[in-house]
Amino acid sequence: MLKKWSAAVLGGLLVVGALGACGGEKEGDAGSGAKKDDGKITMGFAQVGAESGWRTANTKSIQEAATAAGIDLKFSDAQQKQENQIKAIRSYIAQKVDIIAFSPVVESGWDTVLKEAKDAKIPVILTDRAVDSKDTSLYKTFIGSDFVLEGKKAGEWLVKEYQGKTDTVNIVELQGTTGSAPANDRKSGFADVIKADPKFKVIASQTGDFTRAKGKEVMEAFLKANPKIDVLYAHNDDMGLGAIEAIVAAGKKPGVDIKIITVDAVKDGMTALSEGKINYIVECSPLLGPQLMDLAKKVVAGETIPQRVLTEETTFTPEQAKAALPNRKY
Ligand code: AHR
Repeated sequence: MLKKWSAAVLGGLLVVGALGACGGEKEGDAGSGAKKDDGKITMGFAQVGAESGWRTANTKSIQEAATAAGIDLKFSDAQQKQENQIKAIRSYIAQKVDIIAFSPVVESGWDTVLKEAKDAKIPVILTDRAVDSKDTSLYKTFIGSDFVLEGKKAGEWLVKEYQGKTDTVNIVELQGTTGSAPANDRKSGFADVIKADPKFKVIASQTGDFTRAKGKEVMEAFLKANPKIDVLYAHNDDMGLGAIEAIVAAGKKPGVDIKIITVDAVKDGMTALSEGKINYIVECSPLLGPQLMDLAKKVVAGETIPQRVLTEETTFTPEQAKAALPNRKY
């Protein structure tokens, strides 16, 4: 645990910290150890859960980056429940960690706990997902993707794919976790682009909670209720992969009978894309760990940091997926 040292000696302390070993908490355990004074920065990280391949890669990135940066990481898994994340953040406040980072499962309802952290003078960094708090002084920065842009990229591919065609295009949408920033933004970005052409019709849109199992279950229901589905837009690869199982079980060919667009570009998604079962993937990078640790060090040192740090991302066609797969890290 880093005490309130002056900025002048902080740089030296960080170098010492970087040479030491880093101990992380087990998943699901926000930790209850007594406050240490070993000169290291202690970060409390409240993760959403382990709902997808993306999340697993994100957790790995954060844990590995903390070790590499010599940051003592207390890690908790909220199992997709806001109340668990709030409990974990309160526990980090009670333990007087130097900094808190978290990926908010939903956008709303954070003001009270963020105010408690601010009153305790513990800075907070938002990673991956944003909150809708009006008071932006409740957190130091937000590092993550532009989810609206991701939805727009998905819509733009669709518009191009059906250019010059006049028949109605029936779309079903598998939304992410209800109330989460990526579900809200990927939905609105996509809708904004396709609304210009009335041939695109979203005939069903329901949450699949970003999981493969739920994606399969909801797609089964979509297929039963709708005899003609042309396109599936899934807010992440995992739901898309679950839906593929349902499509195959219904005797249809994924990527051919039903065109599929997903978001993330994790290895399993990219493999399905390279095999033609998915038609297009919009990338969302989970590798936020190194940037998060850099920002945390700067915040603790009292340095000025940007209010928003955007992740650089691309898109993939089947050919691009084939080329990228051998070097894909997650
Ligand atoms: O917040 C990022 C999203 O959360 C990813 O797209 C999804 O796979 C994850 O569960």
